[in-house]
Amino acid sequence: MRKHIVAGNWKMNNTFDEADELISNILDALEEKNLDRNTSMIICPPFPFLEMATDYAKDSYFEVGAQDVSTEEKGAYTGEVSAAMLKSMEVSYCIVGHSERRQYHHECNLMVAKKVDRLLENGIRPIVCCGERLEEREANKQFDVVKQQIEEGLFHLTAEQFKELVIAYEPVWAIGTGKTATPEQAQEIHAFIRNLIAEKYGKAVADEISILYGGSCKPSNAKEIFSNPDVDGGLIGGACLKAEDFMAIAFSF
Ligand code: PGA
Repeated sequence: MRKHIVAGNWKMNNTFDEADELISNILDALEEKNLDRNTSMIICPPFPFLEMATDYAKDSYFEVGAQDVSTEEKGAYTGEVSAAMLKSMEVSYCIVGHSERRQYHHECNLMVAKKVDRLLENGIRPIVCCGERLEEREANKQFDVVKQQIEEGLFHLTAEQFKELVIAYEPVWAIGTGKTATPEQAQEIHAFIRNLIAEKYGKAVADEISILYGGSCKPSNAKEIFSNPDVDGGLIGGACLKAEDFMAIAFSF
């Protein structure tokens, strides 16, 4: 059975004390109520709080992800963080190609490909984001856009490498806007993505990959979205900043 995953993308939120409070609240909640064995919970705080998160994770069920990584291995790249650094901090996952990185930091599919390579070289599992912008959806180009993102960013990988990925479909028009894709829209494109993977790597690989939905996912809509056969969980932004909401989403399978 494919793994269910709920990943919380904190984005650029929380101070040190707030981060500490949020993680300890999640920890307390996980002690009170066990997550289903088939559900993984991943917390993706900003870089400065990764060590705190991995320390807490040692005594709990959740895993830790970073929000970005450098395309380069090491050297004179001021401000960058390498995959080897993340590995040395026991980070297990890393988000790549988030639409905010694509929009504000000009991250293209080629950079996504390089980041994925750096992560896999270091045994870190990439959570690769794809998704169309509003004008692309209105022009009915969502399938072409997602296909190109996946082909250019990921199809250089071997099947063995591909199995390490988590894919997150996040329609840009639904991120932080309160607008959510309908369950039908989510299922349609998730099935399309799984089919693309099956055509390239075979059905067995496609069936193993968890494909998450992201974009205004919250406790009130998570159950309906996650009930679709090709939706294996969520990449949660705003709603992961409150332990109670994040937990409610994690219990929505
Ligand atoms: P949102 O963000 O849940 O706040 O829409 C999701 C994301 O960007 O990963």
